[in-house]
Amino acid sequence: MQQAKRLSLIPPYLFGEIARLKRQALAEGKDLIDLGIGDPDQPTPIEVIDHLTEYSHDPSTHCYDESANGRVEFLDQAAVWFKSRFGVDLDPKTEMLELIGSKEGLAHIVWATIDPGDVALVPDPGYTVVKVNTLLAGGTPYEFPLLPENGFLPELEKIPADVVKKAKIIYLNYPNNPTGAIATKEFFQKVVNWARETGVLVVHDCAYSEVNFDGYKAPSILEVEGAKEVAIEMHSLSKTFNMTGWRIGFAAGSPDAIKALNTLKSNVDSKQFAAIALTAGWALNNASNSAALELIKRRRDILVDGLNRLGWSLEKPKATFYVWAPVPPGYTSVTFAKTLLEDANVLAIPGLGYGPHGDGFIRMSLTVNGDKNGERLAQAIERIRDGVKLNW
Ligand SMILES: Cc1ncc(COP(=O)(O)O)c(C=O)c1O
Repeated sequence: MQQAKRLSLIPPYLFGEIARLKRQALAEGKDLIDLGIGDPDQPTPIEVIDHLTEYSHDPSTHCYDESANGRVEFLDQAAVWFKSRFGVDLDPKTEMLELIGSKEGLAHIVWATIDPGDVALVPDPGYTVVKVNTLLAGGTPYEFPLLPENGFLPELEKIPADVVKKAKIIYLNYPNNPTGAIATKEFFQKVVNWARETGVLVVHDCAYSEVNFDGYKAPSILEVEGAKEVAIEMHSLSKTFNMTGWRIGFAAGSPDAIKALNTLKSNVDSKQFAAIALTAGWALNNASNSAALELIKRRRDILVDGLNRLGWSLEKPKATFYVWAPVPPGYTSVTFAKTLLEDANVLAIPGLGYGPHGDGFIRMSLTVNGDKNGERLAQAIERIRDGVKLNW
């Protein structure tokens, strides 16, 4: 068998060496504290599981979903949630589309918009799905930096005009993975004004919209005047309700973008199992994620306060599962991640894996398997204090 040449365009897996060291540590029976994965460690709320059981007994969920853009009850419920959460009216028929998770929507919006030679503007550091699919589609990703001095928001005016001319989409993600940064409505208004001038479609990834702390509520870009003409936003139940394995989300926004994505998807997939879609619709307006958020916040406080006692000066992220910490002097992100693993049995992700501008940072995730009340984070801090040379 000969695989398609385009597969060779996928960049090498930068976490390979870390993954090898992790396997080695586990094989040696070491007690690893894994701050690598950004996957909720708590179970899906029991009442959500109960609804899946109920809906899965309904034979109408057992067949292909032949609806135009997703199970109608799900999209109706998602529209109700969107209105109550963001104050934005959405037409489920033209402005919404069921997704098999937001990753699926992010990958396919590229194939629905990027022709060979087109440019996709993508953040560095950033979640890499749009970048990699752009390469596969024969397009060119142009990486713009997210810098700490700008609160990890892009400076759109610094993207060269000839690049913008070739750009079809810009990918943004707030609350942000990996930096934990958040965006204001004023920033989104700037983005929308820019998109109206340039004709570039904004693809906004809102997967972490509900992972908020300290009373903060992340905005949707669709709250901004004119956004529905130029933006499509991806939403997901994965992080909100500990449902990463369920694979359900939705896209909302520009009717043209929704239509293009739907045209592509209807030739690729046959939508999610309707019982999952119905359960997701119920969950959006009835389930609560507050217990899980309380635990994540407790872990965040232990980790950030602990790192600050060891010499860092970190602010507590207001959203996401991630603490994005600069590496101490003399380290790269890869050498520091290796040192943490070898000298403290703590696994963190080197920022380089998210793009060249991530290299001065490591990402520590607050979704820690086996942690009941923050004790594993406290232990991680002790191990770093006792085992790692920090060179401040
Ligand atoms: C920024 C970002 N977007 C999207 C996703 C994918 O989420 P989903 O489970 O909805 O596909 C992730 C998952 O880690 C993510 O970090």
